[in-house]
Amino acid sequence: MRQIILSDYGQNPVLTDVAMPEPKDGEVLVLIAAAALNPLDVKLQRGEVHAYFPLTFPSMMGTDLAGTVEKVGSLTSRWRIGDRVMARLDPTKGGAFAEYAIVPEDQLVIVPQDMNFNSASGLPTAAGTAWQALVEMADVKAGQTVLVHAGSGGVGSFAIQFARSFGARVIATASGNGVEIARELGADQVIDYRSEDFTENISDVDVVLDTVGGDTQQRSFNVLRSAGKLVSTVSPPDQAFATAHKVEGGFVFHTSNAGRLSNLAKAMREKGHSVLIDSVFPIASFAEAFERQASGRARGKIIVTF
Ligand SMILES: NC(=O)c1ccc[n+]([C@@H]2O[C@H](COP(=O)([O-])OP(=O)(O)OC[C@H]3O[C@@H](n4cnc5c(N)ncnc54)[C@H](OP(=O)(O)O)[C@@H]3O)[C@@H](O)[C@H]2O)c1
Repeated sequence: MRQIILSDYGQNPVLTDVAMPEPKDGEVLVLIAAAALNPLDVKLQRGEVHAYFPLTFPSMMGTDLAGTVEKVGSLTSRWRIGDRVMARLDPTKGGAFAEYAIVPEDQLVIVPQDMNFNSASGLPTAAGTAWQALVEMADVKAGQTVLVHAGSGGVGSFAIQFARSFGARVIATASGNGVEIARELGADQVIDYRSEDFTENISDVDVVLDTVGGDTQQRSFNVLRSAGKLVSTVSPPDQAFATAHKVEGGFVFHTSNAGRLSNLAKAMREKGHSVLIDSVFPIASFAEAFERQASGRARGKIIVTF
């Protein structure tokens, strides 16, 4: 089968012929239809997250996949051949950018009937992180005001929809055509961060979802109400700074969780949420997909298909 392989940090990922894997006890072989890229793939390739996710080389790449069950290992009871499934693989092991992947059976989740594989593959990391941040960490409630940075990005595009469906008023930052995209996703107000300083006209925000970091994170403390919450996906907020502003600052470290993925897939269906797709590339054009992800300019998810 064909698989994207990384030979070392900083090297170009290469489409390589490898042996077909065999599912063992408690494992499932999935025929992959689609896999989504994430900024994490770029950070892993560059060695930037070595401290959290050390790779051993040659390394398989890719965490988020959707496809059908092809074969089950012995003592694997929950899945049948042909089941439509999605999963997030361990970032240190990878394996989603391939024709087939081995997935532990307890990490598979059924793809909702009316969701296609491209959309399903876009859910695990990006939607999972938005859910973890807004539901599990910030506990967003109806009537609150939520500021979502990078509303046109992978995480932000889900966060706008989730926060809105919880009854919050949503302000998003974006630029260019991302402004219109964020509005269409349900943001009540969108600030073009390139032409407007988001700290100038907003205040008393209950929750900030920081998906940008740096100066954007620092300045976000100024728009929070007293006892408001800033949750960052990029870097842990300075606790002394948070205390000085009388707010809470937290960092989301996304952890794979099949129960969460199942819950959010259900919410996607019930609330009519959509997966914003930036672009779809055949696996043979992986280099272009990777370059697009590395640009930091994606509008939603970048998908590779097989
Ligand atoms: N901690 C965790 O577990 C975890 C989990 C998931 C993601 N993350 C991290 O969270 C970050 C966001 O992830 P993602 O998947 O959403 O990334 P993404 O899809 O690559 O985000 C791209 C979007 O960011 C927008 N953007 C860039 N700079 C901006 C700014 N200053 N203000 C507003 N929007 C801006 C871009 O819009 P323009 O082109 O208009 O600038 C683009 O639409 C990444 O650093 C990722 O590694 C962390």
